[in-house]
Amino acid sequence: MAGNSFGNLFRLTSFGESHGIAVGAIVDGCPAGLELNEADIQAELDKRKPGSGIAGTKRKESDTVKILSGVFEGKTTGTPICMVVYNEDQQSAGYELVKDKFRPGHADYTYFKKYGFYDYRGGGRSSGRETVARVAAGAIAKKLLDNQGIKILGFVKAIGSIECKEFSEKDLEKIYENELRCPDAKAEEKMKELIKETKASGNSIGGIVEIRAVNVPAGLGEPVFEKLDSQIAGALMGIGAVKGVEIGSGFNAARSFGSENNDQIIAEKGNAKFLSNNAGGILGGISTGQDIIARIAVKPTPSILKKQKTISKSIENTEIEIAGRHDVCICPRIVPVAEAMLALALVNALLEQKARKQ
Ligand SMILES: Cc1cc2nc3c(=O)[nH]c(=O)nc-3n(C[C@H](O)[C@H](O)[C@H](O)COP(=O)(O)O)c2cc1C
Repeated sequence: MAGNSFGNLFRLTSFGESHGIAVGAIVDGCPAGLELNEADIQAELDKRKPGSGIAGTKRKESDTVKILSGVFEGKTTGTPICMVVYNEDQQSAGYELVKDKFRPGHADYTYFKKYGFYDYRGGGRSSGRETVARVAAGAIAKKLLDNQGIKILGFVKAIGSIECKEFSEKDLEKIYENELRCPDAKAEEKMKELIKETKASGNSIGGIVEIRAVNVPAGLGEPVFEKLDSQIAGALMGIGAVKGVEIGSGFNAARSFGSENNDQIIAEKGNAKFLSNNAGGILGGISTGQDIIARIAVKPTPSILKKQKTISKSIENTEIEIAGRHDVCICPRIVPVAEAMLALALVNALLEQKARKQ
């Protein structure tokens, strides 16, 4: 496989380049009869759109989606759904200056080694713009999950060393009203300060995004090579700039005793009740019925305004100064992308489970 598709039964194929004509998605395997229109997709794309917020880029795109196929009389037909978003605000000229130099932290060097040449205008396929496809497909996956009562909630957990601590599930439900997608107002103020300082110095900063799936039934996930946690980790790790994924207590599990990390179980009104959720809602690659909780480590945006050492295509030492419009912190814009990828992993697991048990 050339790596542009995700999922088995509900399959997303993403296409397009950052500075090409358009980006888009083909979703194959969506069950027929789902009510779907462009507004459903647009609502999700608007959450990811560039051009807003202090952490974001100044690139202005309306990101207007057009559904080309697979929907008739407001319902999915069971045939491939093609969605396209035309690129509007490319400023490729800025990239001329760096077309023979590899941007440190970006994918120019590795694309060049792999293919022999690369689309230097904004990173081509390795651009964050590719995530339009994921969010568009994720919007359909979210609708299917929503019909089963499953909700996906994402938020910015940390930017740099500033972590959000005090918030409720209600705060998460209105996260898109908040510029930084941070549910803790006190932490958000500090994050804003940090972003301003970082921007003023021509630098960028990383952070942590958390994604939760609420009301997931027990039993989703295919042992052993397609464990639900491995599917979710793969889905999230496939997002640009993500350098780590943890499920539940994640790396903290490595520092704890079994007595602390095990989620003890009691019976309550004829049902199992877990006394904690260090497993992040997954045991043996199968959902427990608790909330699924995943966190991703997002690296600082590679394109920074500071002068850096790099090499040219002819492998000579040089320096690079990147202009262009780049996010100071990618985390707020990754929230809807991470939600979409979790939704895509879960919708596949949900459809697979229908074939496993009567
Ligand atoms: C939503 C989103 C927006 C991004 N915006 C930028 C950006 O403005 N500038 C930049 O240099 N990288 C940006 N990136 C990160 C690069 O795409 C990514 O770091 C690069 O492809 C290298 O891949 P890797 O970090 O996964 O190794 C963005 C990524 C995402 C997911």
